[in-house]
Amino acid sequence: MDKAVVFKLFTIYIIFIAIIPNSSIFVESHGVGDENVRHSQAVTFISNEITKAVGFPKQNLIQNLKELFKNENEDMYLNIQQLIRKYGYSAERHVVKTQDGYILTMYRIPGNSSTVFLMHGLCSSADDMVTPGPKSSIAYLLANQGYDVWLGNARGNKHCRKHEAISPKVPEFWNYSFDEIGRYDLPAMIDYVLNLTGRTQLKYVGHSQGTTSFFVMCSERPEYNEKISLMVALSPIAWMSHLKSPLIRLMSSLNPFLINTLELLGVYEFAPHNAIFKGVVNSFCGDEELAVKYCANFVFYLCGYDKKQLNVSNLPVFFAHLPGGSSTKQLLHYGQEIVSGKFQKFDYGQKKNKEVYGTKMPPEYPVGKITAPVALFYCEEDWLANVTDVEILKSELHNVVEYYKVPFESFNHLDFIWALDVKTLIVDKMLQLFERY
Ligand SMILES: *[C@@H]1O[C@H](CO)[C@@H](O)[C@H](O)[C@H]1NC(C)=O
Ligand SMILES: *[C@@H]1O[C@H](CO)[C@@H](O)[C@H](O)[C@H]1NC(C)=O
Ligand SMILES: *[C@@H]1O[C@H](CO)[C@@H](O)[C@H](O)[C@H]1NC(C)=O
Ligand SMILES: *[C@@H]1O[C@H](CO)[C@@H](O)[C@H](O)[C@H]1NC(C)=O
Ligand SMILES: *[C@@H]1O[C@H](CO)[C@@H](O)[C@H](O)[C@H]1NC(C)=O
Repeated sequence: MDKAVVFKLFTIYIIFIAIIPNSSIFVESHGVGDENVRHSQAVTFISNEITKAVGFPKQNLIQNLKELFKNENEDMYLNIQQLIRKYGYSAERHVVKTQDGYILTMYRIPGNSSTVFLMHGLCSSADDMVTPGPKSSIAYLLANQGYDVWLGNARGNKHCRKHEAISPKVPEFWNYSFDEIGRYDLPAMIDYVLNLTGRTQLKYVGHSQGTTSFFVMCSERPEYNEKISLMVALSPIAWMSHLKSPLIRLMSSLNPFLINTLELLGVYEFAPHNAIFKGVVNSFCGDEELAVKYCANFVFYLCGYDKKQLNVSNLPVFFAHLPGGSSTKQLLHYGQEIVSGKFQKFDYGQKKNKEVYGTKMPPEYPVGKITAPVALFYCEEDWLANVTDVEILKSELHNVVEYYKVPFESFNHLDFIWALDVKTLIVDKMLQLFERY
């Protein structure tokens, strides 16, 4: 089959299963054997076609997953606070409202040393900072050193499906991308943390979208620069035209097609956390042999894959806490950055741009206004943050205090938070920098 056709099919299929609200065959069929089998067969067929068409690397790990899922891991079913407490830390929950009405939940592992704010990536949540377990979670490793660790959450993820006036059931709720996360969510959370802790500055650690939204905040609202004593960017994402991930490249080339499809359906939520999430976890990542494979593989198709740094036994825990939930507009905005080769605001098309921005083209983010000290952590094999793109970002920033290439050859995008050696490869370096900033 032709590559483009396969990809198109797959994309349609993903839209179908992942975004159409409440219509999903998962939800009703969960527990009904036949539907699940048919569903798995469809996934198998399409995935096999894709694997053939693009020659993805053979991934042996998936064969063993069934065994793994037999040994139920309690951590799959614990929520973030229960997890934190299970491993001997205290956990707090804090709620903050953004200027535009979204209600966000943050978590905290209190400590007496300075404050570190951790911000998750796309389709993810604060859970990612603790699901790797006590030996390799960034949150715990920092808490062990006495840091006051805060875990942020972006609007629309499973901890933040609330707004003072509108419901997540209406499209307006999902009318945001990393732009609004940077302009409203981060400032609200940072102000809350500083006020509560009585400090004037904090250290910010972002992964992936957690870096994009930071760059948006500090360029669009430059008064926030002085509240940051150091920003550590794990796999920094701003310019994206060299991104490798074949599936994401495809999705971005289908951008106009996606926008039309989505508008037609009036759908604005991507990978929701509610009922469909449960369906995805249970039928995709649960104990079904075929399904299990594709839960893991889908994520690896998107983000790349590093067998050496992956704790395979922990995959059920990772996936039980994913996806965090996000809007379709976030994906579309990233898709536009890949195609345009610019770090700019959402492109609505010329007519609407004129209305929204006063110009035909969306304005670029004034990255030159970022004055906070930034440490860029990158790696050679990153499918999403290509070195060439990170170089562009570096050349636009005026205060890069560290340009750190992770010294591990096959290191990839998710390893920045999931790697077995996250302590020696990432956190130790971070701690050195924390001494200075
Ligand atoms: C912080 O310091 C106080 C007083 O010295 C101590 O009681 C408390 O256990 C410390 N908390 C942490 C998380 O280290
Ligand atoms: C989304 O936001 C943009 C810009 O603020 C606005 O022009 C547009 O009408 C909104 N769309 C929906 C569906 O609310
Ligand atoms: C700052 O904290 C105090 C109490 O600790 C609270 O009364 C006040 O409303 C807070 N201000 C903001 C802007 O959150
Ligand atoms: C890998 O995952 C397993 C299962 O969750 C866990 O018991 C183990 O401690 C993890 N290993 C490391 C090094 O984090
Ligand atoms: C990064 O981009 C360059 C230039 O497009 C490409 O040759 C290389 O394969 C890319 N690397 C990764 C890991 O995506």
